[in-house]
Amino acid sequence: MQKSILVLPGDGIGPEITEQAVRVLKAVTDGSDLALNFVDGLIGGAAYDAAGHPFPEETKKAAMAADAVLLGAVGGPQYDNLDRPLRPERGLLGIRSAMGLFANLRPAILYPQLADSSSLKPEVVAGLDILIVRELTGGVYFGQPRGIREVDGQREGFNTMHYNEAEIERIGRVAFEAAMQRNKKVCSVDKANVLETSELWREIMIRVAKDYPQVELTHMYVDNAAMQLVRWPKQFDVMVTENLFGDILSDQASMLTGSIGMLPSASLNDKGQGLYEPSHGSAPDIAGQGIANPLATILSAAMLLRYSFGRGDLADKIEAAVSHVLDQGLRTADICTPQDRKVSTTQMGDAVVAALD
Ligand code: NAI
Ligand code: MG
Repeated sequence: MQKSILVLPGDGIGPEITEQAVRVLKAVTDGSDLALNFVDGLIGGAAYDAAGHPFPEETKKAAMAADAVLLGAVGGPQYDNLDRPLRPERGLLGIRSAMGLFANLRPAILYPQLADSSSLKPEVVAGLDILIVRELTGGVYFGQPRGIREVDGQREGFNTMHYNEAEIERIGRVAFEAAMQRNKKVCSVDKANVLETSELWREIMIRVAKDYPQVELTHMYVDNAAMQLVRWPKQFDVMVTENLFGDILSDQASMLTGSIGMLPSASLNDKGQGLYEPSHGSAPDIAGQGIANPLATILSAAMLLRYSFGRGDLADKIEAAVSHVLDQGLRTADICTPQDRKVSTTQMGDAVVAALD
């Protein structure tokens, strides 16, 4: 099988961390029946510098043609004075909307070796492994009409939330498919006691669940879900929710694991394409020093193999290698305690590649 990956390193630490993820992808597929073809492209500030736009037409074409996209991060203080449409972050919004990436998958996994970094008690978070599936292209962030208008002599801001059946069904399917690969539990998070969008959301989730009899579906109101995430997060396997709720809950869940340098993400469309990137930004404060943690990007590459190429076996190998490296006490500066061995970005990449065997 031959697949192509568009690599968009972006800005700041982006090039340093994607380089390590590409090395790991090459190593894990070496000698397998999956042949990867890497294509380099420009996005964000790097694209602005070279082509005058954060999401050039050429990058758009390459993204549409690729089987998957691996992205580093975009942004940096040198771009802060640009007009909004030319800012690096617009490149990210541009590629998400051009590819129609409606499903955002964010795992929150606590590596036992890093248990001390969580803000919660070890017994509450030990073994934590949950997946938040957030709807990414609908809901109140995109709903029309929206604006600020004058009503009875004062200004009023307004937004609109709507979801149609097809939008709910497709994100539901992503959640159930993911649950089939995991512990076969889906918790659908809504506010069905108040919102009509949630009433329909719940109805459609129940309908989708009929196609996945092995998966247990439960429902939870979003306010309770926020509470349960800090009270007893291990009750969850897959959580599926709409855009705004998912924005908040996924940030909350990610912090249970304590370390931004460890958190991958995937954003999928309905053509089987996906964009994979670490959850963190371009970290301009440490860019160019060779000390960034590449593990979030390496774990994003594992998600790429699992979700875009159906190679959960190779993804498992990468995740096991990461765990092994942590067992060895190897840490980049962001996760390093005095007992650990501090390594550079490249040394961390070396160690993961070595641990694959
Ligand atoms: P950030 O995530 O880049 O950095 C926050 C802190 O975490 C910094 O101290 C940084 O050094 C550290 N950090 C982040 N990733 C790390 C890693 N892999 N290894 C070690 N330490 C790491 O967020 P910040 O500082 O708010 O934003 C910096 C720039 O990144 C801004 O221009 C922002 O707009 C952009 N950004 C881009 C995102 C993306 O490309 N998806 C997401 C978030 C921010
Ligand atoms: Mg957010």
